[in-house]
Amino acid sequence: MDRIVIRGGVPLRGAVPVRGAKNAVLPLMAASILAEGPCVLHNVPCLHDVFSMDKLLADMGMRTEFTGRFMTLDAPTLNRPEADYDLVRKMRASFFVLGPLLGRFGKTRVSLPGGCAIGARPVDIHLKGLAALGATIDIEDGYVVAEGALKGADITLDFPSVGATENILMAATRAEGLTRIANAAREPEIENLACFLNAMGARVSGAGTDLITIVGVDHLRGVEHEVIPDRIEAATFLAAGVATGGEVTVLNARAEHLAAFLELLGETGAVVRVVGNRITAASPNGLRACEISTLPYPGFPTDLQAQMMALLTRADGVSRIEETVFENRFMQAAELVRMGADISVEGHIATIRGVTPLSGAPVMASDLRASASLVIAGLMAERGETAISRVYHIDRGYERIEERLAALGADIERVRS
Ligand code: UD1
Repeated sequence: MDRIVIRGGVPLRGAVPVRGAKNAVLPLMAASILAEGPCVLHNVPCLHDVFSMDKLLADMGMRTEFTGRFMTLDAPTLNRPEADYDLVRKMRASFFVLGPLLGRFGKTRVSLPGGCAIGARPVDIHLKGLAALGATIDIEDGYVVAEGALKGADITLDFPSVGATENILMAATRAEGLTRIANAAREPEIENLACFLNAMGARVSGAGTDLITIVGVDHLRGVEHEVIPDRIEAATFLAAGVATGGEVTVLNARAEHLAAFLELLGETGAVVRVVGNRITAASPNGLRACEISTLPYPGFPTDLQAQMMALLTRADGVSRIEETVFENRFMQAAELVRMGADISVEGHIATIRGVTPLSGAPVMASDLRASASLVIAGLMAERGETAISRVYHIDRGYERIEERLAALGADIERVRS
């Protein structure tokens, strides 16, 4: 297994282009199932999760081609509307194929994804929504078997789940009549998905608000579509710059998707500049402690909580992070403590006392964002070497992170074994 080895203490400086968003491209790939002709996605990031979704679609018979930053998905060739356990268990987002398969074929069998390191992650909200659209849902041998001609319905989500909103939205594009999803998730990736579906001929309005309205249509055509920039990746690079006392600019970013994060960086004393699609952050005067509560969009993203935890070890005072979205998402804390951080965790709340200098250590990545936190900590460490194992987690969501951080001056390498 590869490791990432970092000798920290170098302030990162320079500019880095942001890639297409993982959490946008995965539902777009799933949505292409609905098209009656080939779709082409632009700005597709080269990520393991993208390869996993590609494999899943190919396994169903869909012809796909991924060259440069373009991906062609030829949905009409898809002839086996089933997603097997072996593929779904590797990536939860595989479950996003359920809604579009049901919408297109009226019958599908998709493995339940199971839990993952950051929590139990049930899919009850997805299933309740699809049942409200008229599907019969049975659980057989660990698989969801869904069937039925879909009819529009009024659906109120128990929680604004991103995946459930996307699954129900995709299915509803082919349901007869009007569907309203209330308490819908408002993430920019959902707006991007709705844009894609509308270009295909769907009639979706309100995406980006908590009430999405869909009028079902009979046909959806193949289209070309651009994936939005990855707001989590952009913020991770900015956090790494600030945490190392440097100055990083992210290019091709959308500040409006990062408002809660940028506001919080400002509260820590970092200086943030936005010029068009370039965002620069630096911390010339040190950092102050702050309070974070993760929330659904437009609140502070849970996907940035771990990176902020590493950064806050450099902030003067006592910081507090409350994780409200996932039940078990502080796994990076114990590894950061091994690097010299003073962090205590009680239930959903982590307390970080700073400033504590970090030193390098062998550490283990437990999930995607926790591994980004360990990379930042490794870059901050004033002495020693940090060797991060299980880096396949980071490859799921960050494209060649070591090369891009090295271009910002980091002493970082991937050691292949
Ligand atoms: C998506 C993102 C992930 C991000 C998360 C929250 C993708 C591919 N992944 O994941 O990066 O961390 O949103 O912003 O877009 N829940 C239920 N029942 C359900 C569905 C969800 O109880 O049927 C719970 C989950 O266990 C979790 C919370 O709701 O505690 C949020 O989950 P959700 O918004 O669904 O996250 P994902 O779509 O899985």
